Amino acid sequence: MNKVETSFLHKNQFGEDFLWGVSTAAFQIEGAPDSDGKGRSIWDVFTSQKGKIKSGHHALTACDFYNSYQSDIDLIRDLNIPNFRFSISWPRIMPTGVLPVNEAGIVYYNKIIDSLLSAGIEPWITLYHWDLPHELEIKGGWTNRESVNWFSAYVEVCVQNFGDRVKNWMVINEPSVFTGAGYFLGIHAPGKKGITNYLKAMHHVTLATTAGAKIIRNHIPDAHIGTTFSCTHIEPATQSSKDVEAAKRVDTLLNRTFIEPILGLGYPQADLPVLKKLNAYIVEDDLNNLSFDFDFIGLQCYTREVVKSSLLIPYIGAELISAEKRNVISTDMGWEVYPPALYQVLKKFNAYKGIKKIIITENGAAFPDTLKNGKVYDIKRTHYIQDHLEQILKAKKDGLNVDGYFVWTLTDNFEWAEGYNARFGLIHVDFDTQQRTIKHSGLWFKDFLS
Ligand code: NOJ
Repeated sequence: MNKVETSFLHKNQFGEDFLWGVSTAAFQIEGAPDSDGKGRSIWDVFTSQKGKIKSGHHALTACDFYNSYQSDIDLIRDLNIPNFRFSISWPRIMPTGVLPVNEAGIVYYNKIIDSLLSAGIEPWITLYHWDLPHELEIKGGWTNRESVNWFSAYVEVCVQNFGDRVKNWMVINEPSVFTGAGYFLGIHAPGKKGITNYLKAMHHVTLATTAGAKIIRNHIPDAHIGTTFSCTHIEPATQSSKDVEAAKRVDTLLNRTFIEPILGLGYPQADLPVLKKLNAYIVEDDLNNLSFDFDFIGLQCYTREVVKSSLLIPYIGAELISAEKRNVISTDMGWEVYPPALYQVLKKFNAYKGIKKIIITENGAAFPDTLKNGKVYDIKRTHYIQDHLEQILKAKKDGLNVDGYFVWTLTDNFEWAEGYNARFGLIHVDFDTQQRTIKHSGLWFKDFLS
């Protein structure tokens, strides 16, 4: 066996029940956008438009997981990873977003679930990882309040078909990112812009999150239900009151806006006044329907942000100072490598009384890997993961609640607007041949989990 001893970390230090896993998302790995009756998603459309994705990349094949899922599941087992997080592509099982169901889509996800279970790997489903059916986007997508009903009907189909074997469910992935990038900045699908689109999407996605969770609870009483949030440790550039206030607004936007209503705290309008505009879309019973008692919250943390006040930036009056400008070590995403951020976000989210359990459902890094003599020596990624695990241990020693860690991600894949330029995998993919090579980080993780 290939022993890769590079750290003193030991799995046992995290406790017997600590959950170890790896996370993926349908659009980033599956390919096969038209196979077996699948409908188009907003990402199929967005990637087909000129200039949207770096280097003109598309996800027509991606990692070909649609066809090669079995050998990738074999690799998950070979790496000793006990939990696999993947998402369901809504248009694969409901091509127009609404009934009728495309049976071939159900068959496909059943094959994945059954294959995982027979390999002894626990399936963790994310219901929505950004690939909305395009037909629904034509009707306004998440800006249309009907989206809550569309999503609910889709969740019903998923729990009815997969709920007999799948216990772990995550409703929505990183709402702040896909509404911010997709409905405010227009740099992700569906490419919409502006504050009105953004706020409507925000409110409807939040309502859909709790509606979806309730449906899971009704159908699968013993389900382990969570939803995931992107989070970032925020620091002011200086201690001037302007920068401190700006950092508070950014923290509110990136870390609090989506989770607080779900915890029954309402939208944090006092700390981010632009959120008062949401009142135009909040009707009657909404505030009572915004919260749900989740079994766990998935946190996805990659970096920290340093913030300065800026009058030029509308609504938020703040600017992020890039890692490049700060001259600090960063990944291919331009994100600073700053492991203590993970400790800080754990501390921050532990302070919410309403959170029962925290699982790190994503953490990982993109570095420019090279394949040499059949090997990828991605020592920076190995260290990145180890250093973040050290922060989890520190958090646990300090009595903070944290019950699991899922690496982003299994194989290099389609990194949204970055295309294939940002490689996050424990396993290298040659996108011309689909050849997989387990990287040093993957070998280390395998050893660690053995
Ligand atoms: C968050 C998203 O959930 C995932 O899709 C993305 O690839 C990673 N972070 C890395 O950016």
